[in-house]
Amino acid sequence: MKRLLSGMRPTGPLHLGHLVGALKNWAALQGQYQCFFMVADWHAHMSEYENAQSIRQYTIDNVIDWLSCGLNPEKSTIFVQSQIPEHTELHLLFSNITPLGWLERCPTYKEQLRELKTRNLHTYGFLGYPVLQAADILIYKAQAVPVGQDQLAHLELTREIVRRFHHLYKKEVFPEPQGLLTETPKLLGIDQRKMSKSYDNFIALSDSADELLKKTAKMFTDPQRIKKTDPGHPQKCNIYSYFSIFSPGQIEELEQECSRGKLGCTECKKRLGEKLNQLLEPIRQKRKELSKHKSTVEDILEQGREKASAVCRQTLTEVKKIIGLY
Ligand code: TRP
Repeated sequence: MKRLLSGMRPTGPLHLGHLVGALKNWAALQGQYQCFFMVADWHAHMSEYENAQSIRQYTIDNVIDWLSCGLNPEKSTIFVQSQIPEHTELHLLFSNITPLGWLERCPTYKEQLRELKTRNLHTYGFLGYPVLQAADILIYKAQAVPVGQDQLAHLELTREIVRRFHHLYKKEVFPEPQGLLTETPKLLGIDQRKMSKSYDNFIALSDSADELLKKTAKMFTDPQRIKKTDPGHPQKCNIYSYFSIFSPGQIEELEQECSRGKLGCTECKKRLGEKLNQLLEPIRQKRKELSKHKSTVEDILEQGREKASAVCRQTLTEVKKIIGLY
């Protein structure tokens, strides 16, 4: 089986966007690849270093969500980046061969410096974000990396580092990893902007059924529709797109009722809330169970650490020998 690695930064609670954008795919890929799933807490620290206390809490909290959404520690290696110091060693070796220009030109770097004004990201570490990501991937010699569109630049840089390494040391050790852009539906937040922690417009996997109903009741709908009897425009409505993602069997009926002015937005949002609660209920149950048994989660991470470490040590020994280090 080919190897696959992916990771997430533990910077907040996971939400429906993570479920449909990543976790569902991750869970499905488990049978097809030898999978490594990593909590990228060092990457979180690169932007959250002034507020680092929460990283630890979200690390466990996110892993609980991963497990609740179907990641299976029997099939996958689930681990925390900062527990595998070998990643930093490869990161350093890659840092030494990565030209500054490649990093300064990286579109995500320029964008984040522009956008994240509340943090000081003019640091040495943050510039090297994609170099650490390359080390994360290549230390496992992963061929496949399921990521969103926004991460493709980092994968391109990873491949450039591979080629530079091979060119410098005349030996092919690493695969050139490919992004797995699985089809992921675009899920907007309850205010119709991108679903994001920083906009506080998300439905968290940890929200209670009541909290969820309150959020769905607040969702924006078709602004042109004032009265219930006005014909709605389901194709332009965020609620409709939620139904098409989470309950495609229902959309034909909704479309008719809405566009004929028979189904009001309040009722429609109530139906959505109920549907989402029904889908999230099994996840909530598992979440509750695991939250009560945090030591189970810690054991899983410990097993993950052991399995991941063994692979990393092998790669590093090989790499150091090729470079000419002791
Ligand atoms: N940069 C990724 C993100 O923000 C997280 C990440 C860190 C990652 N290391 C990785 C993803 C390695 C894939 C592979 O989503």
